[in-house]
Amino acid sequence: MAAAIADPPTLDADRLRADFPIFQQRFHGKPLAYLDSAVSAQKPRQVLDAQREFYETSYTNVHRGVYLLAERATERFEGAREKVRALIDAASTREIVFTRSATEALNLVAYAWGLDNLGPGDVVVATELEHHSNFVPWQQIAERTRARFHPIPVNGRGELQLDALDAIAKQGSVKVVATNLVSNALGTINPVGALAAWAHAQGAIMVCDAAQAAPHRRIDVQKLGCDFLAFSAHKLCGPTGVGVLWGRAELLERMAPFNFGGEMIRKVTVAKTTWNELPYKFEAGTPPIGEAVGMGAAIDYLSEIGMEAIEQHEHALAAYALERLAEVPGVHVFGPPAERRAGIVSFEVAGVHPHDVAQILDREGVAIRAGHHCCQPLMARLGVAATNRASFYLYTIPEEIDRLVKGLHTVKKTFGSGASPARRPSDGGIRR
Ligand SMILES: Cc1ncc(COP(=O)(O)O)c(C=O)c1O
Repeated sequence: MAAAIADPPTLDADRLRADFPIFQQRFHGKPLAYLDSAVSAQKPRQVLDAQREFYETSYTNVHRGVYLLAERATERFEGAREKVRALIDAASTREIVFTRSATEALNLVAYAWGLDNLGPGDVVVATELEHHSNFVPWQQIAERTRARFHPIPVNGRGELQLDALDAIAKQGSVKVVATNLVSNALGTINPVGALAAWAHAQGAIMVCDAAQAAPHRRIDVQKLGCDFLAFSAHKLCGPTGVGVLWGRAELLERMAPFNFGGEMIRKVTVAKTTWNELPYKFEAGTPPIGEAVGMGAAIDYLSEIGMEAIEQHEHALAAYALERLAEVPGVHVFGPPAERRAGIVSFEVAGVHPHDVAQILDREGVAIRAGHHCCQPLMARLGVAATNRASFYLYTIPEEIDRLVKGLHTVKKTFGSGASPARRPSDGGIRR
């Protein structure tokens, strides 16, 4: 008998939009089509309320006072840590470090692990698809330690060329492999499992930037294969100012602290200082308390909707966007086909500067990004200075993509015959 096929998980984006106060406003007299969630996600009332309630009823500093209010604040803060642990299936809250952002989490690993473990003859591998925050720290720490820095190239569709790995391994002793799980510039879903297996075969650690993945899909760090994983709350409907570093306890144990100060110490004397236990060794000073509580509320919100439903929704939107954008003459889309892409679509309109495209769309109430997306090495590889990017989330509806496409027709009309046909070079889009 054939096994029953489960219905794919779904969500009702129209209904969810009602949770987000931002959508009650008009911009240039039009409803907001917010197609820039990759830069930061909008906030639902549930998160805003939870943060306000925390400040009104339970706020003081954590891990310090012995009075009831201090215990309550600490409980809420540590409760948020447990929610983060559950979100990514980490083995223990000892492995969850609160940072200021994904950027700080990645710098933490680069400095605290890199400075003590890299040297001449070692190779630090990142990818050409990296956001600067998982590229520049490794490039700089490699330079300081006189290790070699070697990015994995991408092909014309913005997919990693894994056949370059053998040549990279011949450059020296590979010690770090750093990649994102989902590219913020192109939406490419990267083969972290395969890269982690290769990294470990070289004796290297695997660092995964999940800033564009953790808000959009289920992540199980015990299965993913990486050793460190970083993301930010503000991209998952939470507040700014808090991020997460997950790391394997045995690696975190062996690392020196990143910042020194209060809270991260066990004992301080004039002669010597010893370190607090995990994760506090990496949380010097007052942590982002209210922000962590807000992040916990955001995780509750996403979990109730279901990460699978969110992923599925965005996947359908990306496929729809690719289909609709193909109808607009002169629009060239970067990146992989829908099946290997998350809810991010980068494109250019031939002959029109991306900033002009975004400005005309803005007049229609459509918010998209124009720029290099903090991925200048990738832009250089693609042969462009910038692209336009539309990115989706749980509150995105297909009508917003229709408005994007309509706006692009207006762009074409505005720039008239000055816009030349889209290039469709045989190399798949890379200009050399
Ligand atoms: C893939 C990726 N990594 C890292 C970051 C940095 O995140 P944050 O600015 O929150 O530190 C971003 C932000 O856009 C991103 O898209």
